[in-house]
Amino acid sequence: MDAGSKGRSLKVQPGNFRDRLGALPADDLTHGLFPYPARLLRHIPRYFLTMERSLAPSAVIDPFCGSGTVLVEAALQGLKALGIDQNPMAALISRVKTTPLPPGSLEAAGRSVIEAANKANSARATAQSLAPWYSPEHLADLSYIRDSVQDVADFEIKRGLELAFALTARSASQTDRRIPVPVRANHVQGQRSEVASIFEEFLRQVLFVSNKVDRLPKNWPQPQVLNADARSSDPWKTLIGQGSVVLLSSPPYGAAQKYVRSTSLESAWLGFIDDRGPIGIEQGSIGREHIRAQHRAPNLSSLDGLLVADELRDLRNRSATRADIYDHYYLDMMKVFQNAAALDNMDEVVLVAGTNVVAGTLMETHEHLSEMISSLGFRLVEVFQDEIRGRTLLTRRKGDAQPARAEYVHRFVRQDAATSTIFVK
Ligand SMILES: C[S@@+](CC[C@H](N)C(=O)[O-])C[C@H]1O[C@@H](n2cnc3c(N)ncnc32)[C@H](O)[C@@H]1O
Repeated sequence: MDAGSKGRSLKVQPGNFRDRLGALPADDLTHGLFPYPARLLRHIPRYFLTMERSLAPSAVIDPFCGSGTVLVEAALQGLKALGIDQNPMAALISRVKTTPLPPGSLEAAGRSVIEAANKANSARATAQSLAPWYSPEHLADLSYIRDSVQDVADFEIKRGLELAFALTARSASQTDRRIPVPVRANHVQGQRSEVASIFEEFLRQVLFVSNKVDRLPKNWPQPQVLNADARSSDPWKTLIGQGSVVLLSSPPYGAAQKYVRSTSLESAWLGFIDDRGPIGIEQGSIGREHIRAQHRAPNLSSLDGLLVADELRDLRNRSATRADIYDHYYLDMMKVFQNAAALDNMDEVVLVAGTNVVAGTLMETHEHLSEMISSLGFRLVEVFQDEIRGRTLLTRRKGDAQPARAEYVHRFVRQDAATSTIFVK
């Protein structure tokens, strides 16, 4: 199979990263701390951060860091790392996963929170949108604990407790466990919350989080995490003067908002969103399921001359709404890549992306993103296919069948980087 566009052609290296690296426990260290959607397989950053290079990178950026898989792996290799994510829940998870704390401190603080919450007899206001998801008793107990967590003075400990609280709020909600976004559970056993005591559940989650955080190496280079929009150039300035930088990331999908919606209850509890719901966060997020009329008809000139511009024109003939959504997606991704290319020390890019079915047709999103990066002065050096859990790939371009999800990893080096000829495995 070949990959690449505009005359470039590279052999795709088949296989999967589990086989390339062997077993790596999914819940090692702080991995697996929170069930964030579309988490990256930790083998992928491990592979690219440990591969042989003549000139090793000194810093890693993940502009879509989600729950911090790349950041944990980078710090484990002793590399400086910067994570950006526009979803406040993602930033919280990434921060907790990468911040070592004095052993036992989180557990001690969690027990004090429970003691204070037990004594409370009134609670601060809670978003009305939360009420349908909990019994009145659970709602009241969660409010007491949330208030008492928010009174914790040490901000690093407070974040750990906020995450334990988010896990508690998640497991106590009457949502259908089989669906990633909150959907009301039917009264069928196993589909709804079985939490009897919020206080006991919170203690269980505090012990779970502290157990994992206590295992973080104390001397590792703590990654920086910014809750920001990767389309803005500001967060990228943090990397100026950091030596040779590698961008390693799995970007959002074109038509997905599940990152924000799947964590909407936790976000409402922690005050990241109000009663209007996650709309504010969703508007800043790349990839969307719906588009408002005022956001239509963007100027596509930054994609001029690229194959994706033709594909977007074709798509417009089939579905104007889908075309609006994907116009914005590729323009947004172009802004992110332009921010990367604007940094002189951005020497290498490793991108994990897949395919999507859009208006009944398979779209090779990974190839389009690859072409966009290449157009900014990066040279594609290798492409790997990651077989996703043994499913086969769909090769036909049209048809009713949903294709199995395919994922590809593209690696690029800066054309003019002194390092470009020596990034060879
Ligand atoms: C595929 S997920 C990344 C998952 C991550 N690799 C992990 O292992 O958890 C894509 C992420 O991009 C984030 N995102 C979407 N739009 C963004 C934007 N404008 N700026 C920064 N992050 C954004 C989403 O919130 C989501 O967390």
